[in-house]
Amino acid sequence: MFKIKITIEKKTKISEIIIGDNLFFKLKEHLKKIEFSKIVIITDTIVDSFYGKKIKKALESYKLTTIVIPAGEKFKTLYTASAVYDQMIKASLNRDTLVIAFGGGVIGDLAGFVASTYMRGLPVIQVPTTLLAQVDASIGGKTGVDHTGGKNLIGAFYQPKLVLIDVDFLKTLPIREIKTGLAEVVKYGIIKDSELFAKLELNPKSTSKFWTEVICCCAAIKAEVVAKDEKEVTGLRMILNFGHTFGHAIESLTGYSKYTHGEGVAIGMVAAANLAFKLKMLKEKDLLRIVSLIAVLGLPTKCDLAVSTILKALYMDKKAKSGKIRFVLPVKIGKVVVRDDISEKTIKLSLKEIGCV
Ligand SMILES: NC(=O)c1ccc[n+]([C@@H]2O[C@H](COP(=O)([O-])OP(=O)(O)OC[C@H]3O[C@@H](n4cnc5c(N)ncnc54)[C@H](O)[C@@H]3O)[C@@H](O)[C@H]2O)c1
Ligand SMILES: [Zn+2]
Repeated sequence: MFKIKITIEKKTKISEIIIGDNLFFKLKEHLKKIEFSKIVIITDTIVDSFYGKKIKKALESYKLTTIVIPAGEKFKTLYTASAVYDQMIKASLNRDTLVIAFGGGVIGDLAGFVASTYMRGLPVIQVPTTLLAQVDASIGGKTGVDHTGGKNLIGAFYQPKLVLIDVDFLKTLPIREIKTGLAEVVKYGIIKDSELFAKLELNPKSTSKFWTEVICCCAAIKAEVVAKDEKEVTGLRMILNFGHTFGHAIESLTGYSKYTHGEGVAIGMVAAANLAFKLKMLKEKDLLRIVSLIAVLGLPTKCDLAVSTILKALYMDKKAKSGKIRFVLPVKIGKVVVRDDISEKTIKLSLKEIGCV
């Protein structure tokens, strides 16, 4: 059995991240430090079909309510949140209830948001079941739902009491979802951990030990960045957006259907690395390592959208402050800088480099 513990200590709040295999069936043991008398599990139909019975068994001595919502981003809405509140009220759940967000990032965001707002806040724990949620979405306390005006527009910063990451969940995760999570893993390697990057280049076997170590590296980076800049005030948290500036534009321009989030980020990382190379900030050798690792992992490195359309979308992104686009650019594998002074000409050139027309 593998088990690693990370503690994030902030001014008033401490949350704990536990990572390993074989953890899930002992969930009850990990709840000992949290005060509550009832539990509501919020999950989606797919996760429920794989693990619904198992989680109920693991928690059978508690008074349990399970709320299952349809799977998919399109259900990450206030409308769904409202339906969840309805069921919680119907089950007479009050402030002594612990919320368990049990699923991928959609569930983590939605259940976290519900927990932050129901009766002005219930304790919540995250039990992420996708790689993306294990390395990213479940850590850091960003919760929320989408709005017709944009993704994640309604939300709150709300820290979970515990994040329990069991790598065994990855055994049932479809390969495309594994790859989307791997794009975020590559991101962590490029922004802060050259050893993690090198480990991925060795093309290792996906054992529990491998996943535990990899997720631990990612979780430690996210936890460190979040502990220093929880609410995106100092700008440090911005480095987590590496690959996301271009990635978000590509995802939204293709209607969030052609590419998964990780695929958009993969193309975005290649575009950002090309931009850094054009600016003579990144060596060609490192650019090639980035592009070939992303390709070897089976993620896309090119896209054929129009340069002008991408530029327009970049300016519309909510992170473009006072008309300037902020890019997170690698200077070497393991280190990035934030720049908002890049000329349109250079941006266009780097987009052409990745196949844009
Ligand atoms: N809060 C944050 O900091 C943060 C960070 C990154 C992403 N996000 C959000 O995360 C969401 C994306 O998360 P995601 O990629 O996990 O998507 P998701 O939650 O939609 O999960 C992807 C699919 O995998 C299924 N699934 C989940 N676990 C499974 C398992 N173990 N076995 C088989 N199938 C399983 C789900 O039912 C779903 O169909 C987006 O809404 C994004 O905005 C939030
Ligand atoms: Zn992401």
